[in-house]
Amino acid sequence: MIDERLSRTTEAPSTATVSTAFEDAFGRRPDGVWAAPGRVNVIGEHTDYNDGFVLPMALPQGVRAAAARTADDRVRVVSLQEPGEPVGFPVDVRPGDVTGWAAYVAGVVWSLRSAGHAVGGVDLAVDGDVPAGAGLSSSAALECSVACALNELFDLDIAPADLARLAQRAENDFVGMPCGVMDQMASVACEEGHLLFLDTRSLRAERVPFDTASHDRTLLVIDTRAPHRLVDGEYARRRAACEAAAETVGVRALRDVAVDDLPAVLPRLDDEQQRRVRHVVTENARVEDVVHRLRDGDLDGIGPLLTASHASLRDDYEVTVGELDAAVEAALSAGALGARMTGGGFGGCVIALVAADRAEAVFDAVREAFATAGYAEPTAFTAVPSPGAHRVR
Ligand code: GLA
Repeated sequence: MIDERLSRTTEAPSTATVSTAFEDAFGRRPDGVWAAPGRVNVIGEHTDYNDGFVLPMALPQGVRAAAARTADDRVRVVSLQEPGEPVGFPVDVRPGDVTGWAAYVAGVVWSLRSAGHAVGGVDLAVDGDVPAGAGLSSSAALECSVACALNELFDLDIAPADLARLAQRAENDFVGMPCGVMDQMASVACEEGHLLFLDTRSLRAERVPFDTASHDRTLLVIDTRAPHRLVDGEYARRRAACEAAAETVGVRALRDVAVDDLPAVLPRLDDEQQRRVRHVVTENARVEDVVHRLRDGDLDGIGPLLTASHASLRDDYEVTVGELDAAVEAALSAGALGARMTGGGFGGCVIALVAADRAEAVFDAVREAFATAGYAEPTAFTAVPSPGAHRVR
């Protein structure tokens, strides 16, 4: 069964719960509560660190951060997902000083302060409901909820795109994950009912209406629950291969290579780089194609492009695993209009665009395929584009 609890359209977790957790931990009321969502990416995978295009949407699932300034220069943070004493560190924390889940919080403090923003002592309680390890950007949601809280509490007046860049820097240089800017931009800049068509070079964003229900369609998110394997090392290797290829070709980033340039460009690269470049260049073109079709009201027309994206990630970019391929294949066999892995790959989720009355049948087909293959039982929910980060209290 599709998970009704995860398929909700209203936001959670609740403001009251995180406020109470704050009061329990710190003995006073928070100054405010901020929310930042996780995301699914509809198309544009492994393009963001190549200055390319992405098309994510925010999920109703996210992180809530209750926060209040303190008089000393310390940060203390509790998480409802990690019961225990508050994790504490000084505001002049450095990379390596804090590890584990609190590194995402410490990284944001470090990143903002490194950029010259006067962040002082603060108490924080965080509560999240983005399934962790599913490739739905639970870490960006955590970073962005904290970044938004600090931005307002200390009157920093940082614009959303700059806040996203600072949160990305926390993840790159404090946590040590060399991600692009998609997840953080999705978390701060998405709008309800819309996809975020983002140029990751300029951070220029357009909102593209995405109303599956009015077309009797559903966007199904299937969490394969495949354990993320090799994810960080392989991600960094893909990124390095792209950067090396861009240098060989003589462009600033692979974004500057067009599909029509491929016949001239590919022979200059080794086999592996050829595959990586072909994926990135064709994927950028697919994002633009999807945006055009959506603007023309041709929702079903994006299906084959989603499926082509998956094939490219499987064959050329080599970031899928058996569970992701099996889920896509089973979904398509059961009548999905298109399906692809979403996020970094090596595990995580698949999205499928399905006729609304076929959603349950498509998910059943995936479950059956997984049972036959001996894979863990997948879960699924339906997703609608939800609001980006904002203050809730
Ligand atoms: C992860 C990263 C993103 C992006 C995707 C792949 O989610 O955090 O920056 O590179 O992988 O598209």
